[in-house]
Amino acid sequence: KKLVILISGRGSNMEAIVKACRAEGWPAEVAAVLSNRPDAAGLKFAAEHGVPTGVVDHKAYPSREAFDAALQAAIDAFAPDLVVLAGFMRILTPGFTAHYAGRLLNIHPSLLPAFPGLHTHERAIDAGCHASGATVHFVTAELDHGPMVAQAVVPILPGDDADAVAARVLKLEHRMYPQAVRWFVEGQLSIDGSRVCVASGA
Ligand code: GRF
Repeated sequence: KKLVILISGRGSNMEAIVKACRAEGWPAEVAAVLSNRPDAAGLKFAAEHGVPTGVVDHKAYPSREAFDAALQAAIDAFAPDLVVLAGFMRILTPGFTAHYAGRLLNIHPSLLPAFPGLHTHERAIDAGCHASGATVHFVTAELDHGPMVAQAVVPILPGDDADAVAARVLKLEHRMYPQAVRWFVEGQLSIDGSRVCVASGA
């Protein structure tokens, strides 16, 4: 199976997936890492590890539709089976998400459906939550919605600020996102309406 990973910045989830794919010998390869920002730090890691990289700079396009069309062309040049959003910070058009229906995953740093959007950790602390976490889900037209593949939980401890929670959640993300992608490439995920099934034995 071929994967294309989209990033906008640090790319630590992308790094975790590239490493797990190689170390665990998945029936898959990361065909490319693409960024909408030329200065995304993660591009360096990818290039240094022999993964083809590319940039589709959203600032070069007059509209979301034009950007998404260019991004789609750049992705499809690699004919991926799965597209993985890993800290990709652009809102995608319905045409784009429909094109990749059932083969586009995202990770979001909250326990969806709570706290879609930005500043999730701050919002969880402000709401008085005692736990937070991360969610891997298939992407649909609605931001941070779509069938959920996996969720994992961390505590919010007294005195935690948003950075402390973010760091705890990120460690979790680095384990759960590679796991979820691995399920996909091993053919163990199926979607039944809005529910995802993970095959037994996974
Ligand atoms: C992660 O917390 C992810 O859940 C969110 O953005 C962050 C990306 O981090 N969507 P990185 O670029 O993978 O290091």
